[in-house]
Amino acid sequence: MRSLLFSGVAALLLAAVPGTAAVTVKKSDYAKLPDGSTVSQFTVTNAKGMEAKIISWGGVLVSLKTPDRTGKLGDVVLGHDSLADYRADTGTYFGALIGRYANRIGGAKFTLDGKTYKLPVNDNANSLHGGILGFDKRNWAARAVANGVELALTSKDGEEGYPGTLKVVVTYTLTDDNALRIHYTATTDKNTIVNLSNHSYWNLKGEGDVLGHLVTINADKFTPVDGGLIPTGELKPVDGTPFDFRKPTTPGARINQADEQLTRGKGYDHNWVLNRTGKGLELAARVAEPTTGRTMEVFTDQPGVQFYTGNFLNGSVKGKGGKPMNQRTALCLETQHYPDSPNKPSFPSAELKVGEKYDTTTEFRFSAR
Ligand code: BGC
Repeated sequence: MRSLLFSGVAALLLAAVPGTAAVTVKKSDYAKLPDGSTVSQFTVTNAKGMEAKIISWGGVLVSLKTPDRTGKLGDVVLGHDSLADYRADTGTYFGALIGRYANRIGGAKFTLDGKTYKLPVNDNANSLHGGILGFDKRNWAARAVANGVELALTSKDGEEGYPGTLKVVVTYTLTDDNALRIHYTATTDKNTIVNLSNHSYWNLKGEGDVLGHLVTINADKFTPVDGGLIPTGELKPVDGTPFDFRKPTTPGARINQADEQLTRGKGYDHNWVLNRTGKGLELAARVAEPTTGRTMEVFTDQPGVQFYTGNFLNGSVKGKGGKPMNQRTALCLETQHYPDSPNKPSFPSAELKVGEKYDTTTEFRFSAR
């Protein structure tokens, strides 16, 4: 008991002693779950004052304060004020870690090694974001580590329909040059499929809508969808379409254009096929907000990114301070394998085999100009 207590306190102090680390990590109690277990919060602050708050429930990034061009810190993610509000909200996935399969699996089923697996139907006829009790609704085992927090969970064989016991570890770390890094790893004891992501809703102005944010997506192609938002399988050139974000463009410029794909998504809710040259971290997207000067760059090793303009927010969900969250209040850039990859042999495979390690990183780099 004494040594446990000591190691806990020591870990916190180690991270907090000036000179040993510029990034500090503070653990506190966030709330209690009905079964009495504690949801912890980790406040991670770097030398420049940038601050991330992450809770063990859903691994949610509840707030991220970054400087604008005058140095003023502002929160750039949507969220709720309490655990009760996060738990009551089953539709937005504000800030959460998503798994076992982020995004949609068509017909809520897939076949692997000759066996068909049925998944919970929670989005038309499809399975979205890991099912009914996805990783966003789990209280992860969480501990402070150097520069951030490590979250771990075990997803049992058969949980939400997926094969294999999956051991997942995710770390959020902050760097002194204002990057938030998310590192995901997973291993399995049976061949399975994995696609982990973070579902933060970004608004770099911290208020209003995101129609005037300047968005660049490093992709020559996207994956068009059918009426249920399942990719048709085509990799369509963005050239000459409202999906061309190769040069900085606001979502507002073309979001209301008459276009079958925009109608199906109620705006942008599509996967872009990232231009990639190698295996490491490469630029996926850049978002620049003209009034505050805040800029966010998304770097990833993943093949795709879902650009979603909060189309299904309809005012019924309240955000921080009880404010109604409406369409276009924020945008998501969810790095990922393409949606429905398990049913699309031509897409990069999302399979994780026994003995392999799923290991992927996404970085959100902030600056102001
Ligand atoms: C999906 C949207 C969905 C949202 C919230 C996004 O990743 O692409 O269609 O409404 O998550 O569930």
